[in-house]
Amino acid sequence: MYDLVITGGRVALDEGWADCDIGIANGRIAALGRGLRGAAIIEAAGRWVMPGGIDAHCHLDQPTWGGVDTADDFSTGSVSAAFGGTTCIVPFAMPGPGMTTLAALDRSLACAGGRSVVDYGLHAVFTEATGSDVESQLDRLAARGVPSVKAFMTYRGFAVSDDLMLAIMDGARPRGMTVMVHAENDAGIRRTTGRLVALGRTGFRYHAVAHAEAFEREATHRAATLAEITGARLVIVHVSCAQSAEEVRRARGRGADVIAETCPQYLLSTAADLDGPPQEAARFIFSPPPRGRASQDALWQALSTGDIALWSSDHSPYRMADKIAPASEPSFTTAANGVPGLETRLPILFSEGLLSGRLTLARYLALAGQAAAMLYGLDDRKGRIAVGLDADLVLWDPDARWQVRHEAQHSAVDFTPYEGLWLTGKPTDVLVRGRFVIRDGILHDATPTGQFLPRHAVPADPARRPIEETTPWLEA
Ligand code: URP
Ligand code: ZN
Ligand code: ZN
Repeated sequence: MYDLVITGGRVALDEGWADCDIGIANGRIAALGRGLRGAAIIEAAGRWVMPGGIDAHCHLDQPTWGGVDTADDFSTGSVSAAFGGTTCIVPFAMPGPGMTTLAALDRSLACAGGRSVVDYGLHAVFTEATGSDVESQLDRLAARGVPSVKAFMTYRGFAVSDDLMLAIMDGARPRGMTVMVHAENDAGIRRTTGRLVALGRTGFRYHAVAHAEAFEREATHRAATLAEITGARLVIVHVSCAQSAEEVRRARGRGADVIAETCPQYLLSTAADLDGPPQEAARFIFSPPPRGRASQDALWQALSTGDIALWSSDHSPYRMADKIAPASEPSFTTAANGVPGLETRLPILFSEGLLSGRLTLARYLALAGQAAAMLYGLDDRKGRIAVGLDADLVLWDPDARWQVRHEAQHSAVDFTPYEGLWLTGKPTDVLVRGRFVIRDGILHDATPTGQFLPRHAVPADPARRPIEETTPWLEA
């Protein structure tokens, strides 16, 4: 007798669809089979039972950045995630002024503790200011279950030099840690922004000019090259365009361990969306910016082949007033960068990826969370429907036809870039470790029982070694 049995649904297993019951005991999946008996029974006829999603790139309760605060904390952010079928999140432990990388981790753990309705890990962040003792901080991060670190190649106060990037990569590889990079050429963005300002071209449309594809392509190539040199595992986050996706594909072709992530905003919006009145255009201010239709096609293709391995929201919860700032003269140079997306990430993938036929079930499952679980050291608990793993499960109504409206979303952000978008398929019930958070489409239990997940390191492929160890004439 199991604590709970979900019966009658169409279940998404690794090997494909199955008509089976799921037996849950002590918060874990205890059995997959037929005729299972439970103390409680959930009838799921007509619904699809899918693994809870993992969103491994989101920003919650960050220190004030450029005078701007994030609207969502771990409470509103996690509820929003749950409504969108995401049961595990991995936000960034962003450092505030004067903090070390480890102090930022302590701060984020304190912000998250007792607030989240879904389970969570944290990524660490290095900047030039967060400490020169990279190796010892990496040791302590790994020991505390944080085997992934992010570095920015742009943004004032955050951009790291190639020297620091190399030190992070050199330190990460032997520890089985993953390096994540925001790849844009900082000098190019600063130069072009300065010239646009001098020309009086500060409207939102110029955001896409200041953050041109060439800047992203160059930085992607450079970061990938540094990963190739060090043998480090590198994730290029929020790949926005065909050129950057191609750089990642080439680097992988050379044997480098470089992985691409993209986000829904790059598949559903284009630079033309920055061309409307400020109140409208502001909904598409994020970095890198939206691109053209050809890039959208290339990104869907790369998602379908696996050349892009990760699908994250980059949920960056800034309010409209922080984008239209100053209100008297909105400018791309002062607008807060980023859009909400925790709640829409998975429904968009379900509707526009799986149901549209762009993605197979296997690719959908990989992008929904399985790939993130494996890459970020969560696969012993999360990411699949399999005996022994946490019972993080989502029941979807595959026929529900609905329109995205920000009023109906649960983030504290006052807009969505997807306003009015029609989608098919919606989560009706969401369980985290066998406990209903969402039931019949409403918040059933807001108790913040989400746990911090210490993640395991993922050892580097021994075949990928730093350049100084592989140079053929040294081996001869
Ligand atoms: O525009 C964005 N993406 N803002 C959030 C911070 C980042 O770069 O990920
Ligand atoms: Zn970024
Ligand atoms: Zn981000």
